[in-house]
Amino acid sequence: MLVNSIELINFRNYSSRKFQFNNNLNLIIGNNGQGKSNLIEAIQFLSISKSIKTNISLELIKSGCIESSIIAEITDDDSFKNSIHIKFNNRGKQIILNNKLLIKSSDLLKTFNTVYISEEDINIVSGSPVERRRFLDGFLTKTDFEYMDNLKQFKQIIKQKSKLLKEEKINRDILVLYNTKLIGINKIIIKKRRKFLEYVKENIQNYLENKFHHIKNKKVEIIYTNTLNNENDEKEMVNKEIKYRECLYGAHRDDFSINFQEKNVKKYMSLGQKRLISFILKLSEKDYLIKYKKINPVILVDDAFNGLDDQTIKITEELLQDSLQKIVTTTNKNKLFSNINSEINEIEIKENATI
Ligand SMILES: Nc1ncnc2c1ncn2[C@@H]1O[C@H](COP(=O)(O)OP(=O)(O)OP(=O)(O)O)[C@@H](O)[C@H]1O
Ligand SMILES: [Mg+2]
Repeated sequence: MLVNSIELINFRNYSSRKFQFNNNLNLIIGNNGQGKSNLIEAIQFLSISKSIKTNISLELIKSGCIESSIIAEITDDDSFKNSIHIKFNNRGKQIILNNKLLIKSSDLLKTFNTVYISEEDINIVSGSPVERRRFLDGFLTKTDFEYMDNLKQFKQIIKQKSKLLKEEKINRDILVLYNTKLIGINKIIIKKRRKFLEYVKENIQNYLENKFHHIKNKKVEIIYTNTLNNENDEKEMVNKEIKYRECLYGAHRDDFSINFQEKNVKKYMSLGQKRLISFILKLSEKDYLIKYKKINPVILVDDAFNGLDDQTIKITEELLQDSLQKIVTTTNKNKLFSNINSEINEIEIKENATI
């Protein structure tokens, strides 16, 4: 997959600017606040039909303007060129693919896929369970439509169940009915999450063994903890949920931890080490897409090298040396990819910072 060009009109801090990309390595260079992340956000929008930063379309429109557009040309994995036009205004967003209005915005995912790696990925390792579930659900919903449907149903039941649990007099039978429905869907969700994490674990282990020779401890474990399983006592579950008036069991409360040599990464590793782990965790998305889905995603890397030492940057740069298209942001062009022989398309951004 390739993004050949993208034009931003009244999008974020851009009034009007068109970017052309090459098929391999594109370096977006600019000082703070010039619009590098905004450009990455726009490219990511072409795949997932939503912003990585906000659910409110109006925030994407340049301050003082009433309408905004992203116009792009992409090449899909069958080498077909597609045009995408996304418009935002006070009525929301409109997505036009090859001159046809898209009804289901998830349809863009069938045409264009990205893997987005950013500095904030460290939250997957260091943040709260919400971040880890977001990582799992974010990836699995965009690659597995069965997962997407099951998660949608699951969330719907949780919503109904939460409403019931807030009622003054809770109907126990309905609660049990909801739980019975949840158990089946929960099983499917957990099975898929575990399968993906098993792959991620193997992948991290491989990267460490084959590429990061200077790192001594390499035994990786990923432990998924589920709150709803066959061992739960149904009566006890219901009693507890009625007592706390909250949905306490299910995939929406689960978590996973990553261990190195039996030590928890979140608690024991340095900041830089956590950054590296989150970087290769995200690379696993790319490897999984190529291996199991036969998809060649575009790799978007936004400030993800910050805080890594020179040796680690050099190795991670080498990890990105494949035939995929990459769009990488940096504030310092001399620091990145200086030893790379392949042609680099350098794009400088000097839009006005708004603040
Ligand atoms: N709707 C909007 N209208 C106008 N300007 C906006 C809008 N949304 C964001 N901006 C501005 O866009 C500017 C660029 O933001 P962006 O995050 O892309 O910068 P950046 O180049 O990635 O900087 P950094 O190196 O600090 O990460 C910011 O000054 C921000 O205030
Ligand atoms: Mg930025």
